[in-house]
Amino acid sequence: MAKVDKVSRKGIVLAGGSGTRLHPLTVSVSKQLLPVYDKPMIYYPLSNLMLAGIDEILIITAPDQQDLFRNLLGDGSQYGIHLDYAVQENPDGVPQAFVIGADFIGDDPVTLILGDNIFYGQGLVQQLRRAVTSNHGATIFAYVVTDPERYGVVTFDDEGTPIAIAEKPRRPRSDYAVTGMYFFDNDVVEIARNLTPSKRGETEIIDVIRSYMKRGDLSVERMGRGIAWLDVGTHDALAEAAAYIQAVDHRQGFKIACIEEIAWRQQWISDEQLLCLSENYGNSPYGAYLAGLMESRL
Ligand code: G1P
Repeated sequence: MAKVDKVSRKGIVLAGGSGTRLHPLTVSVSKQLLPVYDKPMIYYPLSNLMLAGIDEILIITAPDQQDLFRNLLGDGSQYGIHLDYAVQENPDGVPQAFVIGADFIGDDPVTLILGDNIFYGQGLVQQLRRAVTSNHGATIFAYVVTDPERYGVVTFDDEGTPIAIAEKPRRPRSDYAVTGMYFFDNDVVEIARNLTPSKRGETEIIDVIRSYMKRGDLSVERMGRGIAWLDVGTHDALAEAAAYIQAVDHRQGFKIACIEEIAWRQQWISDEQLLCLSENYGNSPYGAYLAGLMESRL
């Protein structure tokens, strides 16, 4: 059996950046605090980490936004998790998250999710858990999109082995975009420290992934058609994501990325704690949904 790294319960949500593509929405508030239908955007990546069984989470924000995130999520104890906060002074690239988070990561492996990535769908939870429990080196997810040139792009050989990876290539060699969720062993901190900025003036996550690929330690999992991956970096994407979440919510009555529900289903909080969270939301439908969970027990 292939060697598996120590299982880590540590994750990072990168919620820095200036969000200029969403101006004027993001002039005074971080993109990751904007609403996506009925909850702030950060609930979605946070819920994905929680579903993966990750309960020690570092949230990296822009310097002037940290208090807003703290007001929203606190220290996480109300969800039975532990939340830490750190600041990204300048948006100098995704790999900076590992340098900023070096103390938090310590000697452990770590999962990183970008704060504007939303994943939802059939088999997702199993795929996430597998990535956490059986990662050796690096595990990333690839997803077929119609506009790969906007993303990191991974190319496979006939056997399905990843052979090339490029950031926003003008002529993509495949339709497989690299999603914004990454599972790494502890070497990622040193790798991130030694990167040089790319032509766009940032260090690139693709360079981190490439160094794992070179040493034969990269696993690329394909996400199938049953899973929705949305990255909400434009006005249209934001509106489309909200409509998607709303449609599922109305049709089935289940909430997507309800972190309070996930905490309760993971048995990280009790019925009483869930009730308390529902009461904190006053008479909103979201609060009523939480209160109703205990009766329905679906
Ligand atoms: C970043 C990564 C890119 C990845 C994308 C996923 O791009 O650099 O490889 O495909 O996230 O959302 P950015 O959002 O910084 O343009």
